Amino acid sequence: MEAIGVYDSGVGGLTVLKELRKNFPKEKFVYFADTAHLPYGAKSLDQIQFYAKGAGDFFENLGVKALVIACNTATGAALDLLKDQMSCPVLGVIGPGAKAAYQASKIGKYGLLATQATVDQGFYEKQLKDLDPGAKIYSQGCPQLVLAVEDGLGSHYIGKKIAWEYLDLLPGDYDTLILGCTHFPLARQGVEDYFAFYKRKVTVVDPAEQTCLDLKETIQIKNQAKPGVTYYCSGDPKVFAQKAAKILGEKIRVKRVKE
Ligand code: DGL
Repeated sequence: MEAIGVYDSGVGGLTVLKELRKNFPKEKFVYFADTAHLPYGAKSLDQIQFYAKGAGDFFENLGVKALVIACNTATGAALDLLKDQMSCPVLGVIGPGAKAAYQASKIGKYGLLATQATVDQGFYEKQLKDLDPGAKIYSQGCPQLVLAVEDGLGSHYIGKKIAWEYLDLLPGDYDTLILGCTHFPLARQGVEDYFAFYKRKVTVVDPAEQTCLDLKETIQIKNQAKPGVTYYCSGDPKVFAQKAAKILGEKIRVKRVKE
């Protein structure tokens, strides 16, 4: 199969898929949302690795030409594991996100909004310290923001209120904020409004853009005869189709993958 696999626990990876389609409009993608096991951010490392392994088997059986783990939590827990397991190139979003943040920051101080698992794994911290040993990273786990976005409330007052509450918990001297969960670009307006309200100059980094650049360097992007996306999920396909349609602005069909 000539498609590129894109994997997340839910709708968050659609923010990465959107960016991929914008950059590579003639490519073919397969999106898999492991909605039966969402949220990953509240799971143990072992559990996330187990789910990621299952997703890897699914994509391997399809024979995708590359896999983008469009989930920070799964990237942190299982990037190396999936690289070993799969016969195609595998990319995560944390390396690209850290690279983009490093390039954006003038003072080497970063805010990170992510799932609790991503914060606990300290993967962004490690990547940023590899780039700049003096980097200072303030991290905040935001479980309620994932759930709000899954419920379609990312740009709603509720999503904005939740984002502001979490941002209030971070110290104020960073100049770069990483949206370290692929769900959070769907709540980006609330985050931008927060900095505007407090008259702070903070660059908000969405790792998706750099992920596209890294993918372009890794594989040959093609003009497919039949470009587009095939969607799968492990939970209820109707529920996922409804949520995804709102985010993508188009009706989609979703197939169910048995656990
Ligand atoms: N979208 C995922 C991430 O980037 C995780 C959301 C979740 O399942 O907790 O980390």
